[in-house]
Amino acid sequence: MTIAPTSDARVVYRARAYDAPEDPFTTSGPAFRYDDDLGLAVSDDGVITDRGPFASVAASRPDAPVIDLRSGLLLPGLVDTHVHFPQVRVIGALGMPLLEWLERCALPEEERLASTSYAATVAGELVAGLVAAGTTTSLVFGSHFAPAMDALFAEAERFGLRMTSGLVVSDRVLPEPLLTTPERSHDEAVRLAGDWHGRGRLRYAVTPRFALSASDAILAACADVLAAVDGACFTSHVNENNAEVATVADQFPHRDHYVDTYDHHGLLGGCSVLAHNVHPTDAELDVLAARGTAVAYCPTSNAALGSGMFSLRRHVAAGVRVALGSDVGAGTGFSIFKEGLQAYFLQHLLGADGLPLAAGHLLHLSTAAGAAALGLGEVTGDLSPGKQFDAICVRPPVGTALDIGLRHAGSPEEALGKVFALAGDADVADVWVGGDQVASGGFVRPVSRPAPAGRRTPAG
Ligand code: GUN
Ligand code: ZN
Repeated sequence: MTIAPTSDARVVYRARAYDAPEDPFTTSGPAFRYDDDLGLAVSDDGVITDRGPFASVAASRPDAPVIDLRSGLLLPGLVDTHVHFPQVRVIGALGMPLLEWLERCALPEEERLASTSYAATVAGELVAGLVAAGTTTSLVFGSHFAPAMDALFAEAERFGLRMTSGLVVSDRVLPEPLLTTPERSHDEAVRLAGDWHGRGRLRYAVTPRFALSASDAILAACADVLAAVDGACFTSHVNENNAEVATVADQFPHRDHYVDTYDHHGLLGGCSVLAHNVHPTDAELDVLAARGTAVAYCPTSNAALGSGMFSLRRHVAAGVRVALGSDVGAGTGFSIFKEGLQAYFLQHLLGADGLPLAAGHLLHLSTAAGAAALGLGEVTGDLSPGKQFDAICVRPPVGTALDIGLRHAGSPEEALGKVFALAGDADVADVWVGGDQVASGGFVRPVSRPAPAGRRTPAG
């Protein structure tokens, strides 16, 4: 037997652990992995260096302290591929379709982020909300104001979150305080990316709000930013609501379809995520598949705004990547568990048009699929050696329905189903990002490590 050097592990975690690295929509193997007594060795820099039966992982590192998490369930950190920074305070406004909701609820609140102190407070609320929900990696739809974006990046760094975000840009239709020009949007984006992209766990995302509020000139400026910032991502909205789709068709008669309004400018590529896509044509799905662009499926938002029934089946059949997004604040909260459950409900109700989802599918969509959508599949999304230790421990309070359910679950699959049916923020006890513990016993706290002095790799 070879004894690994103790330096490869700061700590060994002992856990009942789930993850779902394989895409269950394209492979025929088991949808998830479960280990009753797993050992995970984690190095000083937060990388999982070994995985296996606890007894052998621990025996190879007799000096490493052991943290026993078996009173809960260990899962990979959750990934939210679409959540709006400035909309934390408008969650829960029900009963309106998209364009009315934007005008009456979302956009007036977004104007308030012109105040940098207001924006900093909201940034704190967003980051705390993400950590409390167990979301360790996110693609955050930003603010229209550059100083607000500085506040968001600073707050994400303070808590060590793995976050991709960018200045939201629009040059028409929206209220005047939210508008910019192609030139200004370019200069502000390049400045923000220069300050934040690749710093620790932060990355920049070029973010036109949606084609409805973006001229060809500002979309071309977005393409220039994307070309100028190595490794930057792209995100926007597409095909969410019938009235929106009709308006975009009127505005862009010279484009093949809504997806083409972005594709024409070369905005769709590896790390690009379009939110919603409730009403795609087959031709649009083909373009998304060809570009490797992912779709953020936002089930609670799609239901709350009455946007429509998302066809997961058509996306999967066309070869389009799909992951989950909370779409806070049209979505009804930060919990990716809840998005998974709502996805399950809707796909079930769609009958033959739906795609039946089991607990393992929900775990994959909530973790590894999100990491892949964000181009972070080599970094996070599951608990394999080589990945960062981004993880959550689900430990429900004693006597709750989830606690009782988990104690009486007949199989790992049944227990995982109960997590998606019942888990909320109160059950996410511990959260780690890159080995740094950012929530403990349900309490969120900044990481103790000093912020990195300079840049590391964009993904790292
Ligand atoms: N389309 C353009 N902006 C938004 C937004 O803030 N939320 C949603 N759900 N769709 C949008
Ligand atoms: Zn959105």
